Amino acid sequence: MLERLSNKRVLLGVTGSIAAYKAGEVVRRLREYGAEVRVIMTHAATDFVTPMTFQALSGNPVHQHLLDTQAEAAMGHIELARWADAILVAPASADFLARLRLGRADDLLMAVCLASDIPLAVAPAMNHRMWTDQATEDNIRVLRSRGVLTFGPDSGDQACGDVGVGRMQDPQILVSNLAEVFESGALAGLHVLVTAGPTREAIDPVRFLSNHSSGKMGFAVAQAAVEAGARVTLVSGPVSLNTPDGVKRYDVESAQQMQDAVTSCMNDVDILIATAAVADYRPEQVEAQKIKKQQDELQVKLIKNPDILSTVKQRYPACFCVGFAAETENLEHHARTKLHDKGVDMIAANWVGDTVNGGFNSDENALRLVWHEGEQELPLMNKSKLARAFIGHIAQRFYVRHKSALTGDNILHFDKKENSES
Ligand SMILES: Cc1cc2nc3c(=O)[nH]c(=O)nc-3n(C[C@H](O)[C@H](O)[C@H](O)COP(=O)(O)O)c2cc1C
Repeated sequence: MLERLSNKRVLLGVTGSIAAYKAGEVVRRLREYGAEVRVIMTHAATDFVTPMTFQALSGNPVHQHLLDTQAEAAMGHIELARWADAILVAPASADFLARLRLGRADDLLMAVCLASDIPLAVAPAMNHRMWTDQATEDNIRVLRSRGVLTFGPDSGDQACGDVGVGRMQDPQILVSNLAEVFESGALAGLHVLVTAGPTREAIDPVRFLSNHSSGKMGFAVAQAAVEAGARVTLVSGPVSLNTPDGVKRYDVESAQQMQDAVTSCMNDVDILIATAAVADYRPEQVEAQKIKKQQDELQVKLIKNPDILSTVKQRYPACFCVGFAAETENLEHHARTKLHDKGVDMIAANWVGDTVNGGFNSDENALRLVWHEGEQELPLMNKSKLARAFIGHIAQRFYVRHKSALTGDNILHFDKKENSES
């Protein structure tokens, strides 16, 4: 279960508690299990531990100030909120919990908590009388009812010499608890096939036609499908990306090879997610020798490539097929047209050709999901996060379509309210 932290982006908030020194251990454990960690310290926290400690342990600069022109240019509170997959505040002081309940935004950590809609977990640490005070109890109750997760506190010896409930939960247990936030299992037991990257259509032995697809979106989708419990096969065009853990990968070059590889896997595939930017056309003839620079003009006749997605859908109608539409104009119109023409179950449309909306080669992307009965906008965010949200919607539509005995529990969501412990 701890492997679910792999490649997750965790924002660790450290507040002014005597337990702040234990937060270093939390950073170490998170990184051990593959999470990327950024730390925000409150002003009071810096009286207990230096930012240098967390910078060294996290490998990232530590964020401290809300009103910092340099930070705003690089990683301001909105960017930090958008960057993270989850926020863990450990230790969480009594004062922090009170401010969180009020929705204050007068320091960086508070502003980030307020600006985010991702899972937020707090690990309270305080004297046992502070913990059992009516005010703290009220704050915790309200925060839980809003979906804030509380990890601990534990009971035992306290730094002040008292014994009671209020110790910060052990870092190893905290990290296990956080890993559970990412556990979904929405696609457990299903075989998902993802295509990714560009294709290369040979002109002669040294030249080819291709496109700018980096494969990042497809690889992120494959990773998110593994995290959701699926068995995942990835058929990839030429890219320079590492294979996500737990994914079976086949490398291909041309559209024809991609079609052959996909077809050879299709027997037990439940969901096909075709993110690859497959070349629509290929040279009719591939020259056996390198074309020499002789004539002033060179004509290369192109013929249509197979349409992998519609071919698969025709042969395997039970397979839930998701296509991508990378467009430079009339996004929605093209997405709906593709949905009908290819007879598929969902189209994920995105703008390409500008940097504002992410797309090819970018680390961020935005998608408009279109299916026969509806649509959903997934705003600009990093591709890992987007892939998880995308997989969540695919799982929902898959189960709706199949109307099987599977319960709604299998449906993935990161709505804070759904995590309520109250
Ligand atoms: C030595 C010392 C230890 C403290 N330990 C805690 C603690 O464990 N938990 C807590 O809630 N507050 C503790 N406090 C009080 C907080 O530091 C104080 O409420 C502070 O304003 C919290 O700020 P912050 O929430 O912005 O980090 C301690 C104060 C001192 C001086």
